[in-house]
Formats: sequence, structure tokens, C-alpha cells
Amino acid sequence: MKLRGNTCVIGLQWGDEAKGKITDLFSEHTDLVVRFLGGSNAGHTVVVGDQTFKLHLIPSGIVHPGPLCVIAGGVVLDPEVFEQELQNLVTAGVAYTDRLKVSQTAHVVFPYHKLEDQLKDDSLGKRKLGTTARGIGPCYTDKASRSLAIRVADLFHPEVIDEKVRRIVAYKNRLFAALYDSAGVNEDQMAAKAKAYAEILRPFVCDTTELLQDAMAGGKRLLFEGAQGTLLDVDHGTFPYVTSSNASACGVSAGAGVPAKVIETFVGVAKAYTTRVGTGPFPTEQDNATGDRIRERGKEFGTTTGRPRRCGWFDAFATRYSVRLGGVDKVALMLLDVLSGFDTLKVCTAYTYQGKTLKSFPTDGEVMKAVEPVFEEHPGWAEEISGTKSFEDLPGAAQAYVRRLEQLLGVPIAVVSVGPERGQTLLRDALI
Ligand code: IMP
Repeated sequence: MKLRGNTCVIGLQWGDEAKGKITDLFSEHTDLVVRFLGGSNAGHTVVVGDQTFKLHLIPSGIVHPGPLCVIAGGVVLDPEVFEQELQNLVTAGVAYTDRLKVSQTAHVVFPYHKLEDQLKDDSLGKRKLGTTARGIGPCYTDKASRSLAIRVADLFHPEVIDEKVRRIVAYKNRLFAALYDSAGVNEDQMAAKAKAYAEILRPFVCDTTELLQDAMAGGKRLLFEGAQGTLLDVDHGTFPYVTSSNASACGVSAGAGVPAKVIETFVGVAKAYTTRVGTGPFPTEQDNATGDRIRERGKEFGTTTGRPRRCGWFDAFATRYSVRLGGVDKVALMLLDVLSGFDTLKVCTAYTYQGKTLKSFPTDGEVMKAVEPVFEEHPGWAEEISGTKSFEDLPGAAQAYVRRLEQLLGVPIAVVSVGPERGQTLLRDALI
């Protein structure tokens, strides 16, 4: 396999598309891997031989010996999760010293963000978003509010950080007491944590914008690793049932701090079916034996929260929207092996709303809630395909299924994955 140039891997559905595996595969052919959004709500799984790595913050490229891994300014970083991941890497024998950098402009997730996330979502009752409770929404909210925000760089100014943390905690605690009848967090503990966080991060912190510019000027190849998925994008997803950052391809430039024009190829990652965690519309959901079978075969339980994922048929209408929004050049279709054994497979080709076929994916939340999927049916295949070595060796029905999805999405499906291991990958195009 060869990458054309700077490449971005982006999720085309509601997250959990197995982007970690694709990032891992591409990492071998790149000099830097850059994570540019979200926080420890993400859960990227990489399987290497008998080792399984579950990464929430550190780019998946770290499990390769080569690339420099960068957590850019668009990320909201929980230093306690970061420290745990470092420990896991040590245990697994992965060397990361000098290969990991953290942006000084990334925002810091504190325990009060996680408390706020949980208290707020629980208070919403039926309107609950079902967040991962990792403090993501509250941290991005503080970023936008500015006066309540703490960035990584702030941790290294002892003369101001103590006063800042205490001021923020006092404000948050008044809010927690008034709105949720909660005791909130301890001011001294939070001030101590700020000091400890500085020490955790100190060896890694730098100006990553400058670092990426120098790398590009020096002819290095960059890989941008998306998190969550396009349909969870705060501006372009199924609002309000989304995450709090730009999880579509539109977020790369701002989140990483690079000019948009430097990215040559956008690779969209989609499962051969659809899943969703948390609440929100999911037109092709199969809340029945079909969904249960997909969940069981695909081990569809959250990497971050362990929650069972909602499962359903492939939604080509929604995925095509993501492809077009992100200018996606090629698609990696994941977990095709999960679909073995179904007599018939369904694919959603369009939505109807109030009896009329929609021309475009609804960006109006009230419409999205009420759409009905239009399905076409495809013959399934009985054979297990996880040992297949080339696309042409797949059963005819599996090949036809992939070709039909390709037609519906309007871009080539260059990679087909039939299992979690690196070797269980069918390349249809050696030049990505
Ligand atoms: P938050 O990002 O924790 O605020 O959660 C907002 C919504 O995005 C919830 O429905 C989550 O389940 C979903 N979500 C956030 N991160 C991921 C992810 O990495 N994969 C799948 N769903 C996610």
C-alpha cells in the first residue's frame, strides 16, 4: 500500500467505525499521526498479533515504532486518562518517549467537567443525550465561554493557575448546588490536580502548530486521525444528538492548526452496517433479533463506556451525505465479516418524510426524528469470510453488496475489512 500524500481518516457514521484499525494500517506509511478533536469519549482499538490496544486520546499510530504522534489544539485532554494510557503503553512494551507531543493550546478536562456532564445529562430526563460522561461537552462549553477555560499552557504558570482554578471551582460549585443540589468538587483538590497535571504533561508539551508546519516544510507525510463520526459533528450532524466538536472532515484544519489545502486524500471509514451509541435518531435501527445478531457478531459494545451499541442496516443515504460533506475520496468498509449468515441484507437508499421522498439528508432535527427509511434488499452469503485474502475470493453476493454500496456512495471502496487483525484487510486499490 502507498499513500498519495497527507491523508485524513474520518468516520462517516455515528462513530465506532473502526477508524483505529485504518489509522494503524496507514501509520506505517506516514511520518506523523495527528489527533485533532474530541477527547477521551473516543475509543480506538488496534489489534496487533495477540495484543489489543484501546486508545482514547493518544493517536493510534503510537503502536507503530515509526511515526511521531501529536495531540493537537482541537482536542480536550483529560490528563488522568492520558497518564493511564502512558502506563498501558509501558506495560505493553511500546516505546513512546520523543514520539509523543501535546499542544499547549489543547483544553484541559478537569473532574468538574465530568461531574457537570453527568449531572446535566441526568437532569434532562427524556431529552437526555446519553453522553459518554467524559466531560467533553462541558469542557468545549468552557472553551467557547473563554473565562472558564484552562488550556494546557496555563498549567505551567503557577502564579496564575492556582487563582484561576479556585475562581472557576467556586463558580461551578455555586452552579452545581443551585441547579443539581450537588456538593460539587473540592477546591484544594482541584488546585492540587492542576499542579499534578503540569507534571504529567510537561515532557510532551510544545507548539504543535509550529511543529506541523516545520514537518510539512521538511517534506514529512502527515496522517490526521479523526474521532467520533460525521453524523456526530456539532454543526453538520444530527443535532442536538451530537458531540461538541466538528467530527466531520470540516474540523481538521481548525482542530489540527494546518491549512485545509495540505490534505490530499480524505479516507472515509464506514461499517458495512450501522451502529449508534446514546440517544438520537437512527432510521435504519433494528431493535429486534437482526440488531441483536449484528451486536453479537460485531461485539458491538462501547470501547469507552461498555454500553451496548444500537445496531441496524447500512444507511447509504446518511453515509453519502457524509461522503459529500467531507469531500471523501475513498471509503474503507469495515466489519463486512459480521454480515455473514443473513439470508437477506437491507440497505437504506432514501428517507421519506410525511409520505414524500427527501432530496437531501435532513439537517432539521425535527424532520430527522420523523423520517422513514426506504430499503432495498440484497441476497446475503452463508460463508464465514474472515480468512479471505482478496476481494475476488469473497462470495459473489458479498462482492455484489460492496459494489452496490460503492455505487450508492458515489466514491470507490478502496479497502474492505473482514476482521480486526492487520492481515484481515482486502485492498482494492494499492494507492490510497
Ligand atoms: P459526548 O461526546 O460524550 O458529549 O457524547 C455525545 C454523543 O456522542 C453521545 O450520543 C455519545 O454516545 C456519542 N459519542 C461520543 N463519542 C463517541 C465515540 O467515540 N463513538 C461513538 N459515539 C460517541
